[in-house]
Amino acid sequence: MQLKDRVAIVTGAGQGIGATVAKAYALEGAKVAVIDLDLAAANRVAAEIIESGGQALGVACDVANREQVEAMAAQVNAAWGRIDILVNNAGITRTAMLNKMTPDQWQQVLAVHLTGAFNCLQAVVGGMIERQYGRIIYVTSTAGVLGTIGQINYSAAKAGILGMTKSTAKELARYNITANAIAPGAATPMTETIRTDERFKDKYLDRIPLGRWAQPEEIAPVFLFFASDASSYVTGQVLAADGGMTIH
Ligand SMILES: NC(=O)c1ccc[n+]([C@@H]2O[C@H](COP(=O)([O-])OP(=O)(O)OC[C@H]3O[C@@H](n4cnc5c(N)ncnc54)[C@H](O)[C@@H]3O)[C@@H](O)[C@H]2O)c1
Repeated sequence: MQLKDRVAIVTGAGQGIGATVAKAYALEGAKVAVIDLDLAAANRVAAEIIESGGQALGVACDVANREQVEAMAAQVNAAWGRIDILVNNAGITRTAMLNKMTPDQWQQVLAVHLTGAFNCLQAVVGGMIERQYGRIIYVTSTAGVLGTIGQINYSAAKAGILGMTKSTAKELARYNITANAIAPGAATPMTETIRTDERFKDKYLDRIPLGRWAQPEEIAPVFLFFASDASSYVTGQVLAADGGMTIH
């Protein structure tokens, strides 16, 4: 068991990649806080983990809301005494061409991805520093590396996460805390339009050398690597699990 007795927080874990990562961590022995805006979804994932013999706690939290994040971290600390692993996975898209994007669409995406990740980082880092151990995992995207049409907000946020990853890694290395980022490609509700809309799907698929969409289960092992001791000498890195889409 690679994460035996570790305590992990996975945000946006009510569905998609986050849910799969939460289950994968629990299978490896971690106690997993399943965090989502949607409490029913978080509780469903936590119940599945518990039914299969794991330990989990569903918590409702909007990562963009500082007070809710502090309360969430306090709840996890009260339940399990510490937090070893943070996966900043919660994310949204608000797609629009840049001349039509509203200030609200711009702000909402930055608030969830950047402010949300920062809120969660600050809520857990004090304990990690005290215990001289931590794993911070950010989720970026090919959009942050290559840019995406109709997603200037999302591309900016995901590029910002690359900077956060590197700063976090440099600042926290002295405390034995690593920070890495994953750029996933996966078949989840978030990517439904590009996977199903006739205007995009073939064009997009043509850009993936492996020639197919990934399942979240194929992405979860990368999250496990960055959470486990197998990556103890790896920090500040970005690993693209994207079927080769970002090969330059
Ligand atoms: N699916 C992909 O191909 C892909 C590609 C690159 C990056 N990503 C990134 O991976 C992460 C997960 O994506 P996914 O495809 O599983 O998404 P998804 O839409 O399937 O799930 C996202 C989850 O986050 C939750 N969430 C949204 N806003 C939140 C908030 N403010 N606070 C707490 N929870 C919130 C949602 O309720 C949902 O359960 C995101 O950061 C996304 O940007 C996904």
